[in-house]
Amino acid sequence: MSQMYGREDVGLTDEGGLEAMAAANAFGREEIIALLSANTTRARETIRSAAEKMLLKHCGDRVYYRGLIEFSNVCARNCRYCGIRGGNTYVKRYTLSYEEILAQALWCAEQGYGSVVLQSGERCDREFVEFVIDTVRVIKNRTRGERLPDGLGVTLCVGEQSRETYERFFEAGAHRYLLRIETTSPRLFSAWHPPEQSLENRIACLQALQSIGFQVGTGVMIGVPGQSIEDLADDVLFMRDLDVDMVGMGPYIPHKQTPLGEKDPTGDPTYRFESALLMIAVVRLVMKDVNIAATTALQALDPQGREHGLAFGANVIMPQLTPTEKRKDYLLYEGKPCVDETATQCKGCLAARIASVGRVVGYERWGDSVHFARRRK
Ligand code: 5AD
Repeated sequence: MSQMYGREDVGLTDEGGLEAMAAANAFGREEIIALLSANTTRARETIRSAAEKMLLKHCGDRVYYRGLIEFSNVCARNCRYCGIRGGNTYVKRYTLSYEEILAQALWCAEQGYGSVVLQSGERCDREFVEFVIDTVRVIKNRTRGERLPDGLGVTLCVGEQSRETYERFFEAGAHRYLLRIETTSPRLFSAWHPPEQSLENRIACLQALQSIGFQVGTGVMIGVPGQSIEDLADDVLFMRDLDVDMVGMGPYIPHKQTPLGEKDPTGDPTYRFESALLMIAVVRLVMKDVNIAATTALQALDPQGREHGLAFGANVIMPQLTPTEKRKDYLLYEGKPCVDETATQCKGCLAARIASVGRVVGYERWGDSVHFARRRK
């Protein structure tokens, strides 16, 4: 039976066994590698089902929306995989006005979404930092009311900044921060990023964010050429050991106008998709009560990608709120879905997708991770 995991030396046999191991926190590196190596339909279904049970037990059946506002594609970095890297001269750059961002946030609050994510390319200049701080303040002030007494929950995703800047973001009212580590392998990190970016600094940023009091999310790209199952297992251990509250990760999708995408324009999309789903399930089994996003990149590879993500243990979805005419300029990777839809269309479509996997939308609440509440006790 243990053969179904592709490695025979680990005693992971059936759903009951997986649940018992999860309950005993008994997943070590070897076990995680074995789970991520699952390559039969039956083994994958066993892992999926155990992860789904773990999710329902620890987090319930609600799926939380985070309205995603990609407010600027101006970027000072040059990550070798990313379509909006500063060096990509084909990108038409935009920054939404403060009124445009606020209008999207107010729409979100009216719809009963509990939170927004403000995401952009990475900039550390003063003008940008002040702009983010002012925007967060206004969103908080304008959305406090009967339905959301503390205003919309605001998650920031604007990259590596100084500790002082993070403190100011927190004081302005942002309470969650997403900063993907992308990979924890020093070899891969330096192959994917230019030399001025370092794994050490990114880890220091994550630690600073935690110590300031943010709910912190991180994540990785999955299925990049040269990345092994062992690398991914180390990524899972990193997330566990750092004790993050939220995880957002997805399959790597090549973008032709990037150095990595040019080198290997297609790869194996099925492998990347299936590995991404297994990673969600494994993080759920190992970390139990964190929030995990079913990311848009999953849907770029499969029309039902995000539903699968939910079924493998995810409990957060980020509906696109970027104004439709700007979405085509925020292509981190090729084939990004929903670029022609309006926010209203996205809303109807997502509610149906969530119902299709037997779950319900958690309207009018922030939907903080259970893990964060437990960690703070
Ligand atoms: N494929 C998949 N994900 C990507 N990202 C950037 N480029 C790509 C790509 N080509 C992800 C990174 C980043 C997030 C905003 O988008 O993980 O952190």
